Amino acid sequence: MKNIGVLTSGGDSPGMNAAIRAVVRTAIAGGVKVFGIEQGYQGLIEGRIMPLELRSVSGIISRGGTFLRTARCKEFFEPEGRTKAAQQLKKHDIEGVVVIGGDGSYQGAQKLHAEHGIRCIGMPGTIDNDIGGTDFTIGYDTALNTAVEAIDRIRDTAASHGRIFFVEVMGRESGYLAMMSGIAGGAEEILVPETPTDIHELVETIRDGRNRGKTSSVVVVAEGDDAGKAIDVAKKFAEISEFKDFRVVVIGHLQRGGTPTAFDRILACRLGVRAVEALLGGQTGMMAGLVGNKVELRPLSEAWENRTRFDPKLLRVAHVLAT
Ligand code: ADP
Ligand code: F6P
Repeated sequence: MKNIGVLTSGGDSPGMNAAIRAVVRTAIAGGVKVFGIEQGYQGLIEGRIMPLELRSVSGIISRGGTFLRTARCKEFFEPEGRTKAAQQLKKHDIEGVVVIGGDGSYQGAQKLHAEHGIRCIGMPGTIDNDIGGTDFTIGYDTALNTAVEAIDRIRDTAASHGRIFFVEVMGRESGYLAMMSGIAGGAEEILVPETPTDIHELVETIRDGRNRGKTSSVVVVAEGDDAGKAIDVAKKFAEISEFKDFRVVVIGHLQRGGTPTAFDRILACRLGVRAVEALLGGQTGMMAGLVGNKVELRPLSEAWENRTRFDPKLLRVAHVLAT
């Protein structure tokens, strides 16, 4: 293999730049030329492909976002789109691609290999930490710390006014980021899509807390919760309870940006080296993941077939400690 490509796809996550850097430098150390593909599969279809050198990735380990940019690309869902993508790769003599993204991006990668023989290795990049084959995804730790810092700040003002706050945390259909943010932020309750939400029970929990002397309340709501977004939960809560003075904070895309934590940078470095070694060793259809603090290669399909990782024991931890 003489040439490989690297792209970031789906939602950006802090540490993607560190991942690209690791891919570029490992490939060059292995005697291979690397091409950066802009804006994920969209840029690939459009042929926005440029050579990357050692110095192209200088100074980016500490930067959030992805300098290659990213995209969600409808055309790639269709076989015709993937044929155009494969033609672009062949034009540049690129035989293998490292795809940094979530399980959607991996499903695309798997089809690109099945239909056109392009070798693909995945690296998990998403703040949601919602895919199998790895204990942690690149960007999750940074997003978690951002959410916890936000909750801490909200607690200051909630305590000063004795208020109830509903704080919405990202995660798409997964409650993992919300659950961990809530535990670390000492939330009174954490609502996640993995368990049914009962607003009456929530009122009881908050009321009991007040009766035990709590003066402020923070309820973390995962954006995908079955009771709705934080604003919906808050309105229903106020309707059926004596608590009418509430505030809602949606942390939103603040969680996606920012300087990656040391954990995310190191994860990106470790997985990047392994991903390129796998590609150069002739592997395809695999992802580099962290399993039990060891870097391992797992089939791409594990990402969606073996989705992580709701552990009801964690909710118990949250409940016991919120008393
Ligand atoms: P993530 O990779 O973070 O899960 P998405 O699910 O949005 O993000 O997927 C990113 C892109 O990957 C999509 O916009 C699309 O171009 C491609 N993709 C996702 N799922 C598939 C699929 N089943 N088949 C082909 N391409 C896909
Ligand atoms: O997958 C990452 C994520 O930030 C989810 O947590 C969230 O639901 C989604 O992307 C938001 O997507 P967009 O940036 O397109 O609004």
